Amino acid sequence: MLRGEVEISGAKNAAVAIIPAALMVDGVCRIENMPQISDTDMLLTILSELGAKVNYINHSTIEIDCSKVRYQDAPYDLMRKIRASYYLIGAMLGRFGSAKTTMPGGCNFGVRPIDQHIKGMTALGANVEVKNGFVYADVAGGRLHGTRIYLDKVSVGATMNILIAAVMAQGRTIIENAAREPHIVDLANFLNSMGADVRGAGTDTIKINGVEKLHGGTYAIIPDQIEAGTYMVAAAATGGEVLVKNVIPRHLECISAKLRETGTIVQEYEDSILVKGASTLRKVNIKTLPYPGFPTDMQPQMGALLCLAEGTSVITEGIYDNRFKYVSELRKMGAEAHVDGRVAVIEGGAKLSGAPVQACDLRAGAAMVIAGLCANGVTEIEDIHYIERGYENFVDKLRSLGADIRLVSFEDSCSGAEILSIS
Ligand code: EPU
Repeated sequence: MLRGEVEISGAKNAAVAIIPAALMVDGVCRIENMPQISDTDMLLTILSELGAKVNYINHSTIEIDCSKVRYQDAPYDLMRKIRASYYLIGAMLGRFGSAKTTMPGGCNFGVRPIDQHIKGMTALGANVEVKNGFVYADVAGGRLHGTRIYLDKVSVGATMNILIAAVMAQGRTIIENAAREPHIVDLANFLNSMGADVRGAGTDTIKINGVEKLHGGTYAIIPDQIEAGTYMVAAAATGGEVLVKNVIPRHLECISAKLRETGTIVQEYEDSILVKGASTLRKVNIKTLPYPGFPTDMQPQMGALLCLAEGTSVITEGIYDNRFKYVSELRKMGAEAHVDGRVAVIEGGAKLSGAPVQACDLRAGAAMVIAGLCANGVTEIEDIHYIERGYENFVDKLRSLGADIRLVSFEDSCSGAEILSIS
């Protein structure tokens, strides 16, 4: 049972766009509330390799100075490890008129094309070619041209990438059918605070008037919606009571609403949320959708919770083809759940018992942690590097809430593997 208070870090999916966007800025960007996770570390390393100066002021404040960066190919070995490296395409095209990167990596949820990113860059005047796993892009004359772009699919990545590329394009760019996630508003606010002219972020139409130059400044990243939601679900699943601090409750409404349907008490304050678990959880049905719908990045965590609820819950994944790999791991712990394509049916009322399981991806890893917290016996989770991509100090934060969780290193392992052990 989790009890106590937990402080939420800065939003991963905002940070991983803001770091590459700093490449557009001629001056020092001081960024506060930067989460210390492996995805942001990786992007900061990429920027450093490109010639940026990166200074840590304290554990959550950094300064990035890209004013001396000159064009070069992005470091491929690092680029292919993370999804958000695709923002370097927009940033390098916008700043240098040229980009050569690898296709992005990231969690495997089935096919994750970047055709809408390419459509956007092409509409802005770039010549883009994908060949042998590399993306080559350049624009004649070195500067992109504003235009109207209709996205065929609501895409967080394509919206943010086009936004980054367009801030210094010549003229006005309009992105229609844009994604509306809080991190899109955060990226636009960051760019505006550095001198960009972006309006309408948070709606499905974003208008960007290109400017000649961006200047340095200070910006604080919003709190992480998904990290907050993960602790909320963990509190509810364990029947605990947790005050989740440093959050924007409006960003969590879809998660709070679903938790209330399960019988969990959720009380909102100005910048915190109190979650009190119910003695019996009720079944709910969930369909993941783009914001303000229920986030796909909270689907596995809710899947773990619903194993414990009374009755049968149905989860429909509306974003990805294959985001239910974690269900077979939950079954190893005694869950009764079945997957058919994009639908999972979870028979509640399970008594989970600890088992060796895998973190199949970032949020699947969080789901296994939640299941482990609720299980009898010891749960050992492998492949925790996925979890480290998105949760700052996960182990310490959970321990401070009373969880019996620890990182176990295997010194004799040639891969230096670590697992999470939860009792
Ligand atoms: N899509 C296309 N073409 C494109 C782009 C996307 O068909 O050009 C499809 C995708 O295959 C997917 C859907 O559109 O079916 C939505 O994809 P989106 O582009 O919105 O996702 P993303 O940018 O690749 C970001 C987050 C994910 C999060 C999704 C949805 C980053 C680095 N990643 O991915 O975060 O699931 O948006 O909200 O911001 C996570 O944090 O665990 C995570 C996976």
